[in-house]
Amino acid sequence: MTVKSMSAVMFSIMENVAAAFDFEGVYMAKLTAKEEKIFKERMEQRDAELRWLYMELYNNSSMYGELVQRIREFYVDRRKGLKKLDESREKTPDWYKGGDQLGMMLYIDNFAGNLRGVMDKLDYLEDANVNYIHLMPFLDTVKERSDGGYAVKDFRKVRPDLGTMKDLSELTKECHSRNMNVCCDFVMNHTSVDHEWAVKAKTGDGEYMSRYFFFDRYDIPQQFEETVPEVFPSTAPGNFTFVPEVNHYVMTSFHSYQWDLNYRNPRVFNEMMYNFLFLANEGLDIIRIDAVPYIWKTLGTSCRNLPEVHTIVRIMRIIGEIVCPGVLLLGEVVMEPSKVVPYFGTVAKPECHMLYNVTTMATTWHTVATRDVRLLKKQLDIVNALPKEYTFLNYLRCHDDIGWGLDYDTLRQYGMEEVPHKTYLNKFFLGSTGMSCSRGELYNYDPVTKDARFCGTTASLSGIEKAGYEKDDEAMARAIRLDVMLHAYMFMQSGIPIIYSGDEIGQVNDYSYKDDPDKADDSRYLHRGRFHWENAEKRKVEGTVEERIFDGIKKLSGLRKKIAAFSSLADAWTLDTGDDAVLAIGRYMDGEKVIGIFNFSEAEHTAWINEDDGIYDDLMTGEKAEAVNVKLEGYGFKMFYKFF
Ligand code: GLC
Repeated sequence: MTVKSMSAVMFSIMENVAAAFDFEGVYMAKLTAKEEKIFKERMEQRDAELRWLYMELYNNSSMYGELVQRIREFYVDRRKGLKKLDESREKTPDWYKGGDQLGMMLYIDNFAGNLRGVMDKLDYLEDANVNYIHLMPFLDTVKERSDGGYAVKDFRKVRPDLGTMKDLSELTKECHSRNMNVCCDFVMNHTSVDHEWAVKAKTGDGEYMSRYFFFDRYDIPQQFEETVPEVFPSTAPGNFTFVPEVNHYVMTSFHSYQWDLNYRNPRVFNEMMYNFLFLANEGLDIIRIDAVPYIWKTLGTSCRNLPEVHTIVRIMRIIGEIVCPGVLLLGEVVMEPSKVVPYFGTVAKPECHMLYNVTTMATTWHTVATRDVRLLKKQLDIVNALPKEYTFLNYLRCHDDIGWGLDYDTLRQYGMEEVPHKTYLNKFFLGSTGMSCSRGELYNYDPVTKDARFCGTTASLSGIEKAGYEKDDEAMARAIRLDVMLHAYMFMQSGIPIIYSGDEIGQVNDYSYKDDPDKADDSRYLHRGRFHWENAEKRKVEGTVEERIFDGIKKLSGLRKKIAAFSSLADAWTLDTGDDAVLAIGRYMDGEKVIGIFNFSEAEHTAWINEDDGIYDDLMTGEKAEAVNVKLEGYGFKMFYKFF
């Protein structure tokens, strides 16, 4: 029987999912008896829920049948090495929750030119203790309309100047042999205007127009605009774009060249799931679901975080567990905490394996600007109270801006009102108030709400750029202390720390984007500069800025790998320090206890703590210490360790 005629048979038998295991044919022949058993077991455990959820959304048995058929095909095609990895990860589902994971996000071209270049630089990443690499968007895109690669032209082709799918698959193989994981973006919400579907839609082909949201008049878009906020109010205002070729408006929540996909159409859903599985089968370990809250649209709502989004993510999780259970889903949910946590799903019906700890990240920078840890302590208490199954990705900076999504109700109690406080934060990081040494730029300033977000590298925001420019050694020492202290504090949080490429050597802002017309109006490129290998070499020279930061971070990540208390599964809590400038975090697991104490002020402060349970080891100096009333220099930190 050929694959084609087999599919026809499959459609008819798919009413009864159990029967899907009974067919014979090309794919069947490729599975060993053991694989067949594994697939059957995984499918049997999940098919009732999978079918239920699919039918709830689409009520379409033949499309469901096709989906199940293709799931099997992707399982068949999955290479043996990956299947082996899946099986071992299935047996140890907490494999990514130890303290040994350290991530790095990097743009392939900025970092090493192309995929082969990245392969050549794996030793450097290993030297930095990195074992999880997030390759920023590398799929085919058109340079003039790429949104940093988040406008995908072809989900199955690597951008030619970066390499090929074969290079990718070789890179993932090599990474696995070094125990490194590889993450890629899966831009689910939209395709580029250059994607085959959009090109066909522009010819007026109804089949393809139905994969997007097209309207022949502006009245419905107008109604959407009344309830849907804008993502890029100044660089890409509005949520619709007029397409003259077909005389219609199309929904574009992001840029005008990023067309929102219509997940009400099961063809869109199925095809995007096949794209997800295709990427998983290239050997990716972590799939970052880009802009996931936006994927379902309903008139009269904000078109964010709708219940159907959760159904889709849950289906994706189930599909992953059947075909590639070693692959993790990382949700990009840049929302307030009450909207973020539901993307973990429940312990019984999980959705994403990991989520970005976005509120903690923004609150960290607020703490730097105010030298007041109260809100940060409260935020950490909220995160620490969540089930340990929920794994956060902790970060200081990423490729995007910092949005000031803070808990303003609490800040109001401290006398900080939302609008003036945001203005203060932006001015602080511009370097113009609050004795700030920061350098950075505003992002998407909205003249109506006076709202703006912020851009800049960790080093520039910490004062390294200014101190370097002014050749001020004392200011440089202070800035380096702040930079390393921030990393130390990040490493004390529960979850997986992820460094933004360049931060490990204190790389500063890159203003050259202003000369590139495709980038000039997007200040996020300020912190997306080329990686300076000539500076990275200086990490080997004692006393350089690069060496002080690189070695500082490396020492911390080395400790994380060794000490059980850094596992995501450890107990974590904050301590009262009696000083609003000083944050203290405790962690405990398997008899190992760590107390981290962090001074967010440039002046000397004391943590008025009293952990009188014996003598600790000062992990940074190797000396013995008491965790009682600990004095810290400006931007200083301590990490105390004790084994019980
Ligand atoms: C995500 C990306 C961001 C991009 C947007 C649209 O938020 O992080 O860089 O602009 O999605 O795809």
